[in-house]
Amino acid sequence: MKRTKVIDLLKATEFGKNVEVKGWVRTKRGSKAVNFIALNDGSTIKNVQIVVDVANFDENVLKQVTTGACIAVEGVLKESQGSEQSVEIQCVKIEVLGPAGDDYPLQKKGHTMEFLREHANIRMRTNTFGAVMRIRHNMAMAIHTFFHENGFFYLNTPIITASDAEGAGQMFQVTTLDLNNLPKNEDGKPDYSQDFFGSQTNLTVSGQLEGELGATALGAIYTFGPTFRAENSNTPRHLAEFWMVEPEIAFYDLNDLMDLEEKFIKYCVRWALDNCKDDLEFLNKMIDKTLIERLNHVVNESFVRLPYTEGIKILEEAIKNGKKFEFPISWGVDLASEHERYLVEEHFKKPVIMIDYPKEIKAFYMKMNADNKTVQGTDVLFPAIGEIIGGSVREESYQKLENRINELNINIDSYNWYMETRKWGSCPHAGFGLGFERLILFVTGMQNIRDVIPFPRTPKNAAF
Ligand code: 4AD
Ligand code: MG
Repeated sequence: MKRTKVIDLLKATEFGKNVEVKGWVRTKRGSKAVNFIALNDGSTIKNVQIVVDVANFDENVLKQVTTGACIAVEGVLKESQGSEQSVEIQCVKIEVLGPAGDDYPLQKKGHTMEFLREHANIRMRTNTFGAVMRIRHNMAMAIHTFFHENGFFYLNTPIITASDAEGAGQMFQVTTLDLNNLPKNEDGKPDYSQDFFGSQTNLTVSGQLEGELGATALGAIYTFGPTFRAENSNTPRHLAEFWMVEPEIAFYDLNDLMDLEEKFIKYCVRWALDNCKDDLEFLNKMIDKTLIERLNHVVNESFVRLPYTEGIKILEEAIKNGKKFEFPISWGVDLASEHERYLVEEHFKKPVIMIDYPKEIKAFYMKMNADNKTVQGTDVLFPAIGEIIGGSVREESYQKLENRINELNINIDSYNWYMETRKWGSCPHAGFGLGFERLILFVTGMQNIRDVIPFPRTPKNAAF
């Protein structure tokens, strides 16, 4: 018999036919005469109920049907008598495909997120992580669909790179050199000419620089891939390996960029509301009671567009009126997450796109404003999350870009291929990067970024 997924069984309106389901036992309860098994196969957060007349089955088989066991069931699909579900299966045959053993870590009682992180090999079997992973998939589909529908091409940029896209130097080195027996130059430094690529290479922190090459040929592209940062930030918002979505568009100015950022995020959140109803309702009940309200709010509100200088004034005003922040604030400093959240959650009560940052706190490639002090960078700040998107208009003038790189003492040699684009048909262009896991945090209401990626990579942790 062909197996039917639980999600399809629950939609059935024809009863009395034989079906087969396979999945993992969530619970088994009942009496000496009748057992009720709640079976989940991951296709939906909902379980299907299996009704077992104990007398018809081998006692030893039923004994193995415990929480966590994997079973195959054949039976008759019936309209359910109970109020909790619409259908149930009157069991005819049970096969235990994989018993759960005595040490199966997940039990009916709720587990802490910390406990589940230590059991990340099994945590996707829980309702919460099943919901998060289905939503994560849906957000990936929303992203590809949005860009495809809007004429962007999906461009795959390299994961191993010899340049530092953010100029911030927090990279993981990639090498095949023998660390116990390093070949060295005359000056005592490692001799990278003997390394696999003949030069020093790293895991990429961003696909942007190559994305710009795509945009200045194809018009509009987006990347969607893993990125790596070796920063030692042990926060609920940082991963060492995370996924980034980076659109890059020719002939875009700052306003075009902000319009795209807003339209794109709203599209993704609306997609979740439209396509992930059961999972969102579960998370709304169990994780965050204001989740769905917050998602609707973001879809319906216009984002505030706020120059950095104005933002600083608002924060200084708040301090005058008694607001306490841990970190000091003045023109020129990078906002801490407490400042971002004050603006978004308390002052405006809606998402904020902050623009025109001091050049000192932003990357070298951002387009300089006429004031020669600020650059056309945009950070999209979200309730509960802080920065969800970072982007900018790019400096398209060879001269200005070269000046900036020299000012920052960045070694221009590894950017030659990038600089050449500013000589050969340079054009105004802009783009942004969305942290995929930060989007998933927002859409699921989860509190820690380690819990929205299947297998998190953080300092001192690469288990699983
Ligand atoms: O602001 P960032 O560093 O910008 C860039 O990398 C640009 N090259 C993007 C571009 O313009 N194409 O990173 C972009 C976003 C952040 O807003 C944040 O959402 C996410 O990536 N992000 C992280 N997410 C998880 N863990 C980390 N360590 C992150 N660092 C950045
Ligand atoms: Mg940023």
